[in-house]
Amino acid sequence: MRRLTLPLAAAAVAWLGHVPAPSAQYFGMDPGEVLFGECRDCHNFAEGAGPGRKAPNLWGVFGRVAGTAPGWDYTPELRASGIVWTETTMDRWLRNPGSVVPGTKMDFQVPNDQQREYVLEYMRNADIAGYLRAIQNLK
Ligand code: HEC
Repeated sequence: MRRLTLPLAAAAVAWLGHVPAPSAQYFGMDPGEVLFGECRDCHNFAEGAGPGRKAPNLWGVFGRVAGTAPGWDYTPELRASGIVWTETTMDRWLRNPGSVVPGTKMDFQVPNDQQREYVLEYMRNADIAGYLRAIQNLK
């Protein structure tokens, strides 16, 4: 019985988008998905969902030019940056957005290498079609 209820509890937690302190509820969950819960405070990450509460939708972000998701009023600094989002550029960005694009409004950092790796892995797998399109278009 316990074995059945634990993953169900984890699914309910993911669905509610609420991330309490780590506990047995996380049994079977992807660490990147749990960490990505912090990004969801601001961002949406779902096809056609439009922007999140405080930031653009990240669906299809791999291969996209920075500052171009529809429906979001980006800073001129990010729009002018010319960045194309790959794992490399996003890794640098997540470490410290303000050092990559001075003047950006993303006020959030992931200084830990392992945590960034998990987050990027989760994003890649959640949107694998978009990711594959992006890497096929790399020059
Ligand atoms: C406190 C709110 C907040 C959090 C938390 C946050 N972001 Fe952001 N993010 C923003 C804002 C605001 C922007 C737009 C910045 C601008 O216009 O300069 C942004 C932009 C981005 C962009 C560029 C998008 C584009 O279309 O060019 C990426 C990629 C990104 N965030 C990834 C993440 C990831 C991954 C996380 C979690 C590890 C995260 N962000 C957490 C607020 C946030």
